[in-house]
Amino acid sequence: MIIILFGPPGAGKGTQAQRIEKSRGLVQLSTGDMLRAAVAAKTHYGVKAKGKMDAGQLVSDDIVIGIIADRIKEDDCKNGFILDGFPRNVAQAEALDVMLAEEGVKLDTVVQMQVDDAALVDRVSGRYTCAKCNEGYHDTNLKPAVDGVCDNCGSTEFKRRDDDNAETVTKRLAEYYAQTAPVLPYYADKGILQQVDGMVAVDEVAAQIDAVLAA
Ligand code: AP5
Repeated sequence: MIIILFGPPGAGKGTQAQRIEKSRGLVQLSTGDMLRAAVAAKTHYGVKAKGKMDAGQLVSDDIVIGIIADRIKEDDCKNGFILDGFPRNVAQAEALDVMLAEEGVKLDTVVQMQVDDAALVDRVSGRYTCAKCNEGYHDTNLKPAVDGVCDNCGSTEFKRRDDDNAETVTKRLAEYYAQTAPVLPYYADKGILQQVDGMVAVDEVAAQIDAVLAA
């Protein structure tokens, strides 16, 4: 199964992708995580991407399309994958169709996560992740069971993203409406777009996504 989790910054794409990865054995492919790894490693692509990411703008299509085209050829994608943060514009959506056709597979479902703008800034500015396994948490909405200890791997080290501040989130949101939301009609026309309410609790969003994927 190949699915896209689609929504603005802070909609909960990464949170739900991690759940689906565990429940269905699909691999999470987050272009944001891949780009942050490239930035941290100071690769050629990472150096080019950093300025755009810090400014809340999209990284160039050739970089992200190249990253995804290479990644989906890897063995762990053979049973299916979850795209989280890709595609971000119509050109990327069209490129995805081409690369999936080359692999002889097809996109099953695009799940649009609907969240009010006002909630997004709070979600993103309160977000942190485990420095070891990348499990996601939030200062108030989603804390580890034991304070300061990752539920998933037991690590006591956590990190926050450079672009998770109110000013940059506002720019990322503007970029979402200008470039990414126009992708929705592309998938609606193909009859594979489904909506879930992303404003409810994490478990309830997961249940809605399960129902969509089971249909
Ligand atoms: P990326 O890393 O993709 O960030 P994003 O799309 O802005 O999305 P986020 O990761 O911020 O949010 P999310 O929806 O995953 O929310 P999460 O689950 O963490 O992109 C970063 C940058 O990389 C871009 O700005 C761009 O520069 C570049 N980039 C990436 N992909 C690109 C592409 N394809 N093309 C070009 N450039 C690209 O949840 C957020 C918080 O809310 C968490 O703390 C979580 O615990 C909490 N939360 C989640 N669900 C709920 C809930 N139901 N109720 C309450 N709290 C919740």
